[in-house]
Amino acid sequence: MREVVILLGILASLWIFSLVEAEDRTVYFTWIVEYGDISPLFIKQRGILINGQFPGPTVDVITNDNVWVTVVNKLDEPLLFTWNGINQRKSSWQDGVLGTNCPIPPNSNWTYKMQMKDQIGTYNYFPSTLLHRAAGGFGGFNILARSIIPVPYLKPYDEFTVLIGDWWKKDQEELQQILDSGNPFPSPDGLLINGNPDSTSFTVVPGQTYLFRVSNVGMTTSINFRIQGHKLALVEVEGSHTLPEMYDSLDIHVGQSSSFLVTINGAIDPLTDYFIVASTRFMRPTLTATAILHLQGSKTAASRELPAAPIGQFHWSMKQARTIRWNTTANAARPNPQGSYHYGSINITRTVILANSRAEINGKLRYAVNKVSYVNPETPLKLADYYNMTGVFTNSSIDSLPAGPVVLGTPVLSVILHDFVEIVFQNNESYIQTWHLDGNSFWSVGFGSGQWNPALRSRFYNIYNAVSRSTVQVYPYSWSAIFVSFDNKGMWNLRSANWQRRYLGQELYVKVWNDEPSRSTENGIPDNVIYCGKAKRRN
Ligand SMILES: *[C@@H]1O[C@H](CO)[C@@H](O)[C@H](O)[C@H]1NC(C)=O
Ligand SMILES: *[C@@H]1O[C@H](CO)[C@@H](O)[C@H](O)[C@H]1NC(C)=O
Ligand SMILES: *[C@@H]1O[C@H](CO)[C@@H](O)[C@H](O)[C@H]1NC(C)=O
Ligand SMILES: *[C@@H]1O[C@H](CO)[C@@H](O)[C@H](O)[C@H]1NC(C)=O
Ligand SMILES: *[C@@H]1O[C@H](CO)[C@@H](O)[C@H](O)[C@H]1NC(C)=O
Ligand SMILES: *[C@@H]1O[C@H](CO)[C@@H](O)[C@H](O)[C@H]1NC(C)=O
Repeated sequence: MREVVILLGILASLWIFSLVEAEDRTVYFTWIVEYGDISPLFIKQRGILINGQFPGPTVDVITNDNVWVTVVNKLDEPLLFTWNGINQRKSSWQDGVLGTNCPIPPNSNWTYKMQMKDQIGTYNYFPSTLLHRAAGGFGGFNILARSIIPVPYLKPYDEFTVLIGDWWKKDQEELQQILDSGNPFPSPDGLLINGNPDSTSFTVVPGQTYLFRVSNVGMTTSINFRIQGHKLALVEVEGSHTLPEMYDSLDIHVGQSSSFLVTINGAIDPLTDYFIVASTRFMRPTLTATAILHLQGSKTAASRELPAAPIGQFHWSMKQARTIRWNTTANAARPNPQGSYHYGSINITRTVILANSRAEINGKLRYAVNKVSYVNPETPLKLADYYNMTGVFTNSSIDSLPAGPVVLGTPVLSVILHDFVEIVFQNNESYIQTWHLDGNSFWSVGFGSGQWNPALRSRFYNIYNAVSRSTVQVYPYSWSAIFVSFDNKGMWNLRSANWQRRYLGQELYVKVWNDEPSRSTENGIPDNVIYCGKAKRRN
C-alpha cells in the first residue's frame, strides 16, 4: 500500500512537471547572416544583414518561452551572437561569447536553445565576435509579460523598438585593422536611429500612449534621447520596472536599454509632427540623429528647432542616474513584488574592486582590468572547465590590484553559487566606461566621484530601490558600485560594453560554481555543442 502511495506521489509530481513544461512554448527562428550593401550614412558600405535586414529583426517573445535561433553563417569568418541582458538561466553554454562557445564556422549553422526564464523587459542582441557589431547584425530583443501578469502601467496603444547607436563610414575590417595595428579608435562619423540618421518615421495616433523600447546598440558612445514636445515616463530598465519618473531626456550608455511611455500631444491645432532626437554625450563635435514622430492626420512638418541637449555633463548625468529607481511593489516576471528580496539587508560575501586602465604592450595599445589585458584562448573557458583541461585560463586573484605593469592573460574570477558580491568599478581614466555582466542581473547601488572607499557606502548607496539591470556606466575619475547575487551557475563574461576597449582586453570571466553535480543547478552540455581548440578532437 505504501509503495502505491509513493508511486502515485511520483506520478503526480511528474504530471505537474509535464504541465509546467507544456506551458512553456518553443518559438523558432532561422537567421541567414550574410554581407550585403548598406548606406546608412549615404555612402555604400558592406554591412551584416540578418534575413536581408539591417538592423536585424526584432525578437518579440514571452517570459519563459523557449527560443531556438538557428544562425546560418554566410560570412567568411567565424561568428557568434550574444544576447545582451538575457540571463541564460543555468546555461552559459548558450551565451554566445568566445569564452563559452566555439564560434560558428563559415558555411555552417548552429542552433541556440535558450529559455527566457523569469525575465521580462527590453534587451538587445549583437554579434560578439571581432568587430562584426560595427557592421550590423544587431537588433532589439523584447520579452513580454505573460498574459496572467499585469505590468505596473497602463497598457500602451502600441509599442516601438528603437535602436540608437554610433556609426562609422569605415567598414568593420578597416576598424579592426586600426586596432590590430595599435592605433587609437577613430571617433564615430554619425549616429543612427533604426539604421538611419534622419528619416525613420513612427506613425502615432494623437492622444494615445505608446511604449518606446530604446537600446543603445552602438560601439563607444553615450547618447542622450529625447522627443520634441513630449515627456518620457520611464517604466522599465533592462528587466526592472521603475518608478515612473518623468524626463525631458535620458542618457543611455552603450549597451543599455530603457523603455518609456509617451502620450502623444494632440492638443495643437493643426496637428504637427515632432522630432525624435538622439545626440552624442561627452564628445565634440556633437553628432545628432533624428527620426519623425508622425501624427496620423498631421500635414505640418516637425519644427526644425530641435529640443536642446542637457547642458550639464558628467555630474548632471550622474545625478540623473541616481533618480532611476525600482518600483519594489510591482510584479516582476513572476506575480510577486520585485522588491520582496531585500537586497540591501543581505551580508556581502566579498568585495571586488575592478579598475580599468590603458597601456602599451609591445608598442601597441591595450586595455586592462586590474592590470590584466584579456586574451581569448583557442578553447572556450567553459569547455576547458567542463573537461578539466589545464592551461587554458588562470584561476585569478584579479580582485586585488597588483603592482607592476599591465600583462596579457586569461583571468577567471571564481565565486561560489549564491555568493552576494559587491563589485566596485573604479575608473581612473578621463573616458566614461560602461560595464556589462552576462548571466546575472545586479543592483546598481551607487555612483560617486573620486576614489571609492567603504565609508562611501553609507553616504552614496541606495539600498532600498536601486534598479536591477545588466549594464552600468562609470563616469570619469569616478566609481560605480553594484551588488550581485550570483545565483546562476556557469562561466559568465564581465566586459566593457565599449567595444574597442573590449576588443583590446577589457574583459574577464566569472565562474559561478559549487560542487553539486546536479541538473537542477546547471543544464548539461548541449547535444549540438561545437568543439574547437584543445577540445577539437572530441568532434
Ligand atoms: C544546418 O546544417 C545542417 C547540417 O549541415 C543541415 O542539414 C541543415 O539543413 C542546416 N540548416 C539550415 C537552416 O541551413
Ligand atoms: C508600483 O507598482 C504597483 C503595482 O503594479 C502600482 O500599483 C504602483 O502604482 C506603482 N508605483 C508607482 C509609484 O507608480
Ligand atoms: C550579517 O552580519 C552580521 C554582522 O556580522 C551578523 O550579526 C548577522 O547575523 C548576519 N546576517 C545574516 C543574515 O547572515
Ligand atoms: C587611481 O588613482 C589614484 C590617484 O592617482 C590612486 O591613488 C589609486 O590607487 C588609483 N586606483 C586604482 C584602482 O588604480
Ligand atoms: C572533471 O573533474 C570533476 C572533479 O574531479 C569530475 O567530477 C568531472 O566528472 C570531471 N569532468 C569530466 C568531463 O571528466
Ligand atoms: C579558485 O579560486 C577560488 C577562490 O578564489 C577557490 O575557492 C577555488 O578552489 C580555486 N579553484 C581552483 C581550481 O584552484
